[in-house]
Amino acid sequence: MQTDSSFTFVLFGGTGDLSMRKILPALFEAHRAGGMLHDSGKIVAVARHAADRGEYLQWVNEHVKPHVSKNGVDEAAWTSFLARIEFVKIDLGNPEDFVHLRDAIQDLPGIRVFYLATGPSLFVPICHALASVGLNENARIVLEKPLGYDLKSSNAINDAVGEIFAEEQIYRIDHYLGKEPVQNLLALRFGNALFEPLWRREWVESIQITIAEELGVEARGDFYDNTGALRDMVQNHLLQLLSIVAMEPPHSMDSDSVRDEKLRVLRALKPIDPNEIGKVAVRGQYHAGGIRGTAVPGYATEAGVKPDSTTETFVALKVEIENWRWSGVPFFLRTGKRLADRVAEIVVNFRPVPHSALGASALRAGANRLVIRLQPNETIRLYCLAKQPGEGMNLASVHLDLAFDKFFREGQMEAYQRLLLDVIRGRLALFVRRDEQEAAWRWVEPILNEWKTSTRPPKPYAAGTWGPAAASAMLAQHGTCWLEEEN
Ligand code: BG6
Repeated sequence: MQTDSSFTFVLFGGTGDLSMRKILPALFEAHRAGGMLHDSGKIVAVARHAADRGEYLQWVNEHVKPHVSKNGVDEAAWTSFLARIEFVKIDLGNPEDFVHLRDAIQDLPGIRVFYLATGPSLFVPICHALASVGLNENARIVLEKPLGYDLKSSNAINDAVGEIFAEEQIYRIDHYLGKEPVQNLLALRFGNALFEPLWRREWVESIQITIAEELGVEARGDFYDNTGALRDMVQNHLLQLLSIVAMEPPHSMDSDSVRDEKLRVLRALKPIDPNEIGKVAVRGQYHAGGIRGTAVPGYATEAGVKPDSTTETFVALKVEIENWRWSGVPFFLRTGKRLADRVAEIVVNFRPVPHSALGASALRAGANRLVIRLQPNETIRLYCLAKQPGEGMNLASVHLDLAFDKFFREGQMEAYQRLLLDVIRGRLALFVRRDEQEAAWRWVEPILNEWKTSTRPPKPYAAGTWGPAAASAMLAQHGTCWLEEEN
């Protein structure tokens, strides 16, 4: 479906890593797919590291093309994509340069999107400079994460941006919300009557949400060392997934109905007692180890990282939600760099039968479980017990498998592609509203504060493992274990 109106997509940070790996490839995919982007829509890249359009297109050819060539580049589509791209050289330290931007785009038709793929310290200066030349009218602004460093700094950015753009003009990106399986979770929960009666404390024993990465900090050591896993992954991606798993059915799928329900969950998170942090939160940091047989260095020796850094590269948390549906059900969240596998999944462990006439194996934990795998391959598995063939009544675990790539061979969309199209179409549902963001910061803040001042360093774990033993011990206290520990 083509966007019904034309657009001008202004990309700040046009030569940055995100533009190269995600944003421009996603726009190309939308262009290549045929008709998703209005024919006259333009992309206006803004950067200071290129002299003119010719030099910028050369950079796009050299750096962006390799990221779109998964299935071989369609050369005709690539050439027509380049024709959409304009370039404006701006030194962000020089607000007068914005006059050139205004001149370049003022006669272009359609809606205007300003995508700030820059560090958060530039968000406010860019917004002011846009307003100074009148470009904040009838425009949408997209803010990349991290939006702030804590509640105070995030509020400062939101206040300043909010003076220039109304909340309905602001699109705060959390790319996990654009992932196809996250959309599917909404479909599974609210498109089927089957799960709803079971989706509550009476039937659910515990829930795990894991985002594990094999990658280390790559070239982002400097950024990461000032950020850590709690800010980089928990405050946003993991709490957003949690809110979608736990939310009440929304009245409709319009943006505020969905976001209102997510907000209710975030506000119902049991506040962290600073004296109890050691019991409900584990932080770890990887040391040297091996990923699939290849030796990798420890975090403290990565480029850009302070040798005595206490930044966490792993977090495991026990979270509770204080409402009727979830009271007493532990949600275990976990994320880390340099773990044993790249996997993102949600595990819903249902309670065992209350009495078994079929022997003790029917009473075992996890006999009934739903595993929603977001990546690397998108599947939903429902585990049940069945009788093993042969004599006697011996039970074994079997599963019903829903592998999406078998059912839907085409039409899968990358998260960024979906989200960029949503911005152009003016759909806010998959973007984080300010109040959600504040609630998430408010909840993580006691942990941030404790870890900032704690004399106990993060627990070490070897790269290529599943993190510190303390993360397993935390679950053991609740009579459960992480999914991979069962096998
Ligand atoms: C980003 C984090 O938001 O998400 C990165 O800043 C992380 O540190 C990335 O690697 C993970 O995203 P994905 O889509 O690869 O799971």
